[in-house]
Amino acid sequence: MTLRSTPLSPGARILGVGAYEPSRVVTNEDLLARLDSSDEWIRQRTGIVERRWATPDETVTVMAAEASRRALAHAGLDAGAVDAIVVSTVTRFVQWPAIASRVAAALGIPSVAAFDLSAGCAGFCYALAQADALVRAGTAGHVLVIAADRLSDMTDLADRSTAFLFGDGAGAVVVGPSAQPGIGPVTWGGDADQADTITQTQEWTDALASGTMPYIVMAGQKVFKWAMTEITDVTRRAIEAAGLTPADIDLFVPHQANDRITDALLRYLKLPESVVVSRNIRRLGNTSASSIPLGIARLYADGLVRPDAACLMVGFGAGLVYAGQVALLPAGAPGTVPGPVNPPIPPNPLNP
Ligand code: ACO
Repeated sequence: MTLRSTPLSPGARILGVGAYEPSRVVTNEDLLARLDSSDEWIRQRTGIVERRWATPDETVTVMAAEASRRALAHAGLDAGAVDAIVVSTVTRFVQWPAIASRVAAALGIPSVAAFDLSAGCAGFCYALAQADALVRAGTAGHVLVIAADRLSDMTDLADRSTAFLFGDGAGAVVVGPSAQPGIGPVTWGGDADQADTITQTQEWTDALASGTMPYIVMAGQKVFKWAMTEITDVTRRAIEAAGLTPADIDLFVPHQANDRITDALLRYLKLPESVVVSRNIRRLGNTSASSIPLGIARLYADGLVRPDAACLMVGFGAGLVYAGQVALLPAGAPGTVPGPVNPPIPPNPLNP
């Protein structure tokens, strides 16, 4: 017996980008009431000048839905064109339904396929790889890929190794069929033997018993070293997998974990001077998987994305897991530039 399969699409590509940045700005100074640190140390060791924390109304679902609306507007598509939604998140405190189903309802498309995935700060690149495969396999026409998190909910504000790092936000892209491949093969993997380097202080069942929130705990130096050694090679392989060389890259948007990790990646990859590099960590901190789409949206807002720009992305984090790929970006049409119009990225003389 031979079964019929779905008609394949020759390619898939990103058609629109959107972002949601929470309204509340939190500076390094704001943290010092509870944290034994300094603005100078935080800027020097991470690049972070400020971050945004969601207000109670800015839930993960609210931020995810708004980023999605902006991505759809950028793509020039109605929500009705979407066949599937995948949300990458690590700050979901409800086991069911998936946040993707809540987003489907909020967008007025309750009948679409909807699921969440958890791959730490690599989640956006993981989800983008799923969308690429779904569209090319003909399983879905258009897929909304969303990364959304409220890390402030799980940050111990007195922890000297994490309190200054994390921020909140959401980013989304619409992926649809195209005549040519517009999303390169994903380079992904991990090191599960280091799973305990980024984890939480306690299981939820223990949290219920003790009445205290679980917080993120991170062995920062170990993760830093792993990123320096592993992620450089992963990023190089992502370029090669797309059939490109560093000279072909226009934009580089690595996970915004630490400006010094970005610096190390740049030294290793020897990207041309002309490549625009995301430094969004300075104004948003580490927003987990959202940091890549938020970084891309910021480049649009700054007018730095030409049509068909080749954008190199790499995400890495809890698991430990990583994923990277190159994707071509659509033109930003006037009036539909994704994300809010933001103040300029704060200069960081301590970490230029
Ligand atoms: N303020 C001031 N001083 C501090 C602070 C602080 N908050 N924290 C540590 N220090 C001091 C230490 O006591 C130490 O002092 P000493 O030299 O006198 O002993 C010194 O600063 C250096 O401390 P380190 O722990 O070595 O700091 P490091 O340079 O490693 O920076 C950081 C810490 C920023 C966390 C870094 O390790 C890092 O960015 N790691 C990688 C994070 C990452 O990539 N995460 C992946 C994704 S996260 C996710 O998936 C959720």
